[in-house]
Amino acid sequence: MSLPPQLSNPTVHMRDPQRVKEILQSMQKAGSNTIQVISDFDMTLTRFAYNGKRCPTCHNILDNSKLITEECKEKLKDLLNTYYPIEIDCARSIEEKLPLMVEWWTKAHELLVQQKIKKDLLAMVVRESDAMLRDGYQLFFDHLHKHSIPLLIFSAGIGDILEEVIRQAGVFHPNVKVFSNYMDFDETGVLKAFKGELIHIYNKREGALLNTGHFQELRTRPNVLLLGDSLGDLTMADGVQDMENILKIGFLNDKVEERKQSYLNSYDIVLMKDETMDVPNAILLYLT
Ligand code: C5P
Ligand code: MG
Repeated sequence: MSLPPQLSNPTVHMRDPQRVKEILQSMQKAGSNTIQVISDFDMTLTRFAYNGKRCPTCHNILDNSKLITEECKEKLKDLLNTYYPIEIDCARSIEEKLPLMVEWWTKAHELLVQQKIKKDLLAMVVRESDAMLRDGYQLFFDHLHKHSIPLLIFSAGIGDILEEVIRQAGVFHPNVKVFSNYMDFDETGVLKAFKGELIHIYNKREGALLNTGHFQELRTRPNVLLLGDSLGDLTMADGVQDMENILKIGFLNDKVEERKQSYLNSYDIVLMKDETMDVPNAILLYLT
């Protein structure tokens, strides 16, 4: 079968197209029952912008909701304006950014906990939000489900919110597993903390290694399709056992010219300002 024509879309950039071709051919030969998909959530499965307006992350869905007081909203917005530019600053190394990202997540979670958020209002918050999955998400989720290919969504966002987004979109199928930051509620259903080890954008490797059981279960699937939008997402597959092939697809949404080279150096396929799942979907159709 010839390679998907979508790889010639104007949004597609590759450092080494020949290598991409070889990986795809090898994965196709191995068969769909040897494949697993590992994907980031915010700005990978969800849209970055719609009609020129930024779309929300899991955190933003809560930050912008009526569960948060105006005063707290201001503080969360200040944090975003301080730390997001650092997240996407290509002049700073990951080592330099890491402690600052921990600071961002920690401060934001502290503020959220102070808001006494009620568990039973989260579905409403998501329903009323501007959350948007990328165009073509339905085919992506449904196709993986139909072919019984496991999808791990590995997110530094908020698990409770993320699950609600995909549940309301009708795509939280049984082949989907989520690693994320989950809220911990008290006996009256009020947020009291976040559970377990914090996942931020630069410790996904550690998060993967804490979940060896999951990857052990999937050890008959050594071929990995990885989807991300941050350079931190590249380590999401570090727990995969006996990996044979990995194809890394990166969405480059913001500061695209400045960051293009570093994305090309680390992702096999870079999708520049592409708000759709067209290329991942074409690859899935090719592989199955
Ligand atoms: O799902 P993913 O791993 O992409 O989630 C992380 C994203 O959440 C980051 O890219 C960051 O910009 C965003 N974030 C946020 N508010 C916070 C912390 C992170 O919007 N307080
Ligand atoms: Mg992301």
